[in-house]
Amino acid sequence: MKMAERSRGAAGAPSKKAVKKSVRVGLLGLGTVGAGVAEILKKHQSMIDQRVGMEIDVVRALVRSKKKKRSGVARGVEQTTKPSDIVGAPDIDVVVELMGGIEPARTMVLDSLMAGQSVVTANKALVALHGTELFRAAKKSGADIHFEAAVAGGIPIIRTLREALASDRITRVMGILNGTTNYILGQMAKGNSYEDALGKAQELGYAEADPTLDVNGRDAADKIAILSRLAFGTSFKAGAIEVQGIERLTPAVLADAKSLGYRVKLIAQSWLAKHGDQEVVHAGVFPCFVPIGHELSAVPGAQNAILVQSDSLGTTLYQGPGAGGLPTGSAVTADIMEAARNIRAGVRRQLTPASVTRAPKLKNLGQCSSRFYARWLVRDEPGVLAAISKVLANNGISLATVLQYGGGESDSPVGIVFTTHETTNAQMNKAMNQIKRLRSLKGGGNVLRILGKKE
Ligand code: NAP
Ligand code: HSE
Repeated sequence: MKMAERSRGAAGAPSKKAVKKSVRVGLLGLGTVGAGVAEILKKHQSMIDQRVGMEIDVVRALVRSKKKKRSGVARGVEQTTKPSDIVGAPDIDVVVELMGGIEPARTMVLDSLMAGQSVVTANKALVALHGTELFRAAKKSGADIHFEAAVAGGIPIIRTLREALASDRITRVMGILNGTTNYILGQMAKGNSYEDALGKAQELGYAEADPTLDVNGRDAADKIAILSRLAFGTSFKAGAIEVQGIERLTPAVLADAKSLGYRVKLIAQSWLAKHGDQEVVHAGVFPCFVPIGHELSAVPGAQNAILVQSDSLGTTLYQGPGAGGLPTGSAVTADIMEAARNIRAGVRRQLTPASVTRAPKLKNLGQCSSRFYARWLVRDEPGVLAAISKVLANNGISLATVLQYGGGESDSPVGIVFTTHETTNAQMNKAMNQIKRLRSLKGGGNVLRILGKKE
């Protein structure tokens, strides 16, 4: 019989055999986050053991290559390349998935749950795409699955939504959910190149193994999908929402933001709205112009921040390190401690999100409105501004500001920058598609939403 099964009474009640001396942990992955977890557990061992009421031992870690050089505490962790040394292994109580990607992580997590092992994961892609399957497997086997580090690194936003705000009706969740892009945008605003900033973010351990997922907005989309499930009960795949990354942003766009009184941030959001007499959920990920003075405009480096609006509490802000081995490792370790406490108490807390039978449905953003900023490159010739203004007017879009950069002496194209008053996404998309076809158009086409001061 498995140790995990042996240690808990059949009905989840503590049994005599539940008096265990230690909870044994197997890490699936010993990279940036795995090494952070090993370091925290070693550095704060006696404090953690006291808080849990028993020892937590990292027994071994699954890696791709045992030959890879590892530093710090990770160097001393026993390594294996055989998943079965951890998944379903009788001497492992808690399996901690820190490999990333969908497969083989999904199969290993499912097999661990089915073997009665508690699972901790930091894998947002996995939880966002296969959450329903994982939560069902956990429920069926009676095992717990914890995923605090999957969203916003070290910030305890999952616990906040699930526990602290359990009595409240949440209406909006909005924030900076990707540390890598926030770091890159900050570096670009200081005049550094996109490529250098991305390289540095990778060096610092912020980026995903495939950093395309950071810069194209998919990582933030996975995270907002997870938060939407917790906040509204609405589950959707990240691929179902509109997502824009930061890859096409140029230093000129960041300079425009600065001169107009904004900072550019990659904002993920999800909110409740009325569509007729039906309640719906809107969600998306976009680089936005955030007014200087707005809580999200000043979030520095690789930090994340999440604004939550709810009926009773009003607006609350959660901010802190959103990526990196130690910040993420601290959230993972807290989950391991929670799993260990449950094992010690002989209970399963059923931490899977409650199933909501009548959750609001996801609805596209077509009729949602916002102010917009746009930058186009055009030939410097008479009538260009008039042509752009005509397209906007024909689509019922009212201009707020217009600026022109360059031109006069050479043949090179000039930059036309404008901001609009509130208009719908559908109207703006239609107008932008028409502007793209204007004869004088030479390129560009950065269109960003402008957040309201009170949003
Ligand atoms: P990482 O540095 O790339 O580490 C991945 C680890 O998993 C490595 O030790 C690797 O082994 C091992 N691994 C990967 N695929 C494997 C396979 N098929 N078989 C055996 N071992 C395998 O990744 P990370 O940055 O620590 O991220 C881990 C997870 O945490 C991801 O889901 C990520 O999205 C999430 N996360 C990361 C951060 C962050 O700041 N980095 C923050 C929050 C959440 P080798 O060492 O031998 O290559
Ligand atoms: N690559 C992710 C980020 C790690 O930069 O936010 C934290 O989830």
